[in-house]
Amino acid sequence: MKILMVCLGNICRSPLAQGIMQQQVTAKDLDWEVDSAGTAGYHIGKSPDHRSIAVAKKHGIDISSQRARQFKIADFESFDHIYVMDEQNYEDVMMMASTDQEKAKVRLFIPERNVIDPYYDNSLFEPVFQTITTQCAKLLTDLKNENR
Ligand code: 4NP
Repeated sequence: MKILMVCLGNICRSPLAQGIMQQQVTAKDLDWEVDSAGTAGYHIGKSPDHRSIAVAKKHGIDISSQRARQFKIADFESFDHIYVMDEQNYEDVMMMASTDQEKAKVRLFIPERNVIDPYYDNSLFEPVFQTITTQCAKLLTDLKNENR
């Protein structure tokens, strides 16, 4: 199973989603692959935002070696599931899809909800971490059941 987490910059939310999901997947001894990307190219090659690195570290997860990259058409082929953090990411990714099969891989990370962008508000990193952690656990259970 290959899972891609997507947000706008690939420096705040999706690196957390990648790191948290990776940790949960490893804890369950699954050999799933988890990656992340951003719809925008502003931060290509950069480390995650220092506030995301800090909140993850506080909870025992090291995301500091991740590097930002931009979502690309080939990701539709490479990944089984593409989880987007908000509706804008959803629109941007869906616009790049060309077949129904590609479109079917794209889902909001939390059904009918946006993961709020913490970039402009330091106080949001902890709640975003918690929200993503809870949803990763749910997704992992759902995906395991789907693949039984
Ligand atoms: P992310 O957050 O999409 O969760 O990585 C953002 C990072 C950077 C910017 C916006 C959101 N930015 O405008 O540079």
